[in-house]
Amino acid sequence: MRELTPDTITDAVLDQMATTPDPRLKTIMAAAVKHLHAFAREVNLTPAEWIKGIEFMTAAGKMCSPERQEFILLSDTLGLSALINGLHDATALEEATHTSLLGPFYREAAPTLAAGSSIAKNPKPGTECVLYGRVTDAAGKPVAGATVSIWQTGADGLYDIQSSATSVDYRGVFTTDANGLYFLKTVKPLGYSIPMDGPVGAMVKAQARHGMRPAHIHFLVGAAGYRELVTALYLRDDPHLDDDVVFGSSGDLAVDVVANDPDCPIKGMPSIRFDMRLSRESAADKTSGRVGADPSAILKQAKGEPAPAGAGG
Ligand code: BEZ
Ligand code: FE
Repeated sequence: MRELTPDTITDAVLDQMATTPDPRLKTIMAAAVKHLHAFAREVNLTPAEWIKGIEFMTAAGKMCSPERQEFILLSDTLGLSALINGLHDATALEEATHTSLLGPFYREAAPTLAAGSSIAKNPKPGTECVLYGRVTDAAGKPVAGATVSIWQTGADGLYDIQSSATSVDYRGVFTTDANGLYFLKTVKPLGYSIPMDGPVGAMVKAQARHGMRPAHIHFLVGAAGYRELVTALYLRDDPHLDDDVVFGSSGDLAVDVVANDPDCPIKGMPSIRFDMRLSRESAADKTSGRVGADPSAILKQAKGEPAPAGAGG
């Protein structure tokens, strides 16, 4: 029998896992083992440190509920979600608007609204603005009938569900017209802190990071024949545009609030314009490209109950 040492253990594990029938699972698990072992060797990980890591993951699991997914927050704060989004974008058939984080506040239940409606139920005076833009294909041709789902924080910097699990505000679903146009009224979003009351927050604090996201508005765009787009716009003047704690903000997604935009479909209000380009769909796009989901859908899937497309990333 071969002697197991820190130098031979990795090959021993890989040899034993070589029986894995699913080729993709085999590739992923072999790489995971190689990199995990290399990580432990590189930092000379001690038993006490590894137990701390296991305690951290246990606490993250206990924090997960129908309202909260702590592991996605971990993936986000480690830049892994943004990396996977970037890798996903690189497989699109055509160059399109880049993906940005779905985040933990997406909910499948959102009202379908007519063009020009407000997604803010009680906007504070002076905070309202128009949000509009065109959804086109990669060549700039309008995509009519695209579903544009939008969600954001209110004037207090909180998502509706952070105040009450059942409230629905600052979210809505719109449909583009024949010119690919969507438009609505909303309030200027505010930057906010990610949830810091769990193990991921403790990690962020231990790293002396600020935990802030720059002001943004989320989009989930779907149209028949096109790859689904999960993205967000970011306000260019936000002080955290360059150091978003979850690495979602990016210069190509930055926009300004404009006082008198002559192209804005509703006059007399400040406005934000955000155009989006969609890539044609490939056969591979039939599986979800989302990193994240409505947390209740992830739990349903974990229990073997039917969950809608996209759940579980
Ligand atoms: C958000 O944009 O809502 C978000 C994204 C990742 C982690 C936390 C919040
Ligand atoms: Fe957000």
